[in-house]
Amino acid sequence: MSHDCNLIAINEYEIDPAKTTKIVSLLDECFPDTFDGRSYFKQLPHFRYLVFQNEALIGHMGVDHRVIKAGGKAIRIFGIIDLCVKPDHRRTGIAGRLLRSVEALAEKSNVDFLVLMGDDDTLYKSNGFEHVSPAMTRWLAVEDVESVSVIEKDLSNCFLIKGMKSDNWPKGKIDMLGHLF
Ligand SMILES: CC(C)(COP(=O)(O)OP(=O)(O)OC[C@H]1O[C@@H](n2cnc3c(N)ncnc32)[C@H](O)[C@@H]1OP(=O)(O)O)[C@@H](O)C(=O)NCCC(=O)NCCS
Repeated sequence: MSHDCNLIAINEYEIDPAKTTKIVSLLDECFPDTFDGRSYFKQLPHFRYLVFQNEALIGHMGVDHRVIKAGGKAIRIFGIIDLCVKPDHRRTGIAGRLLRSVEALAEKSNVDFLVLMGDDDTLYKSNGFEHVSPAMTRWLAVEDVESVSVIEKDLSNCFLIKGMKSDNWPKGKIDMLGHLF
């Protein structure tokens, strides 16, 4: 990541219309035909990390602060959502820096685990994440900004975690207590 880049953390409620427009545009470029003009996929995140180069938004990561249940235990997580980097700025370490930023915040807070869903685990494994397997998970299905049903499915192919307070993920069923990010 070059020196003229500026990384900020911002609460969702502080994001102004100008920044929202930039977020919508970056998400649409990085995840085509997915966001339907929204700045969020299923639900607003609690806060976001944004990377700017001058006025241009070139990196994004949403974070959900949530309690979920795993193996009968309530655990506090930061859920990492919609991590993306503008195509012509990829492979310069921006995503890695975003992951390290949220990890540093989690380490000094009461968050037990970082959690994310990733089909390609390359970036995440090289940043210390590991798969939960099995990962029988319940969540609220949200489609087109509507609650649809509660789904239960094994997500071991994409459920990735990184321990903050301990590496002992409670084995057993997982309940997201809300939508899947
Ligand atoms: C995945 C992504 C955020 C990586 O951003 P980045 O700033 O290029 O990442 P970094 O420079 O820190 O690290 C690069 C490493 O990420 C890994 N990587 C590349 N594409 C990836 C992907 N789609 N998913 C996971 N890891 C990926 C590779 O290991 C790469 O290392 P290499 O260059 O040695 O092959 C970026 O490619 C992107 O925005 N992709 C489109 C959106 C997306 O798929 N986001 C992930 C949602 S889970």
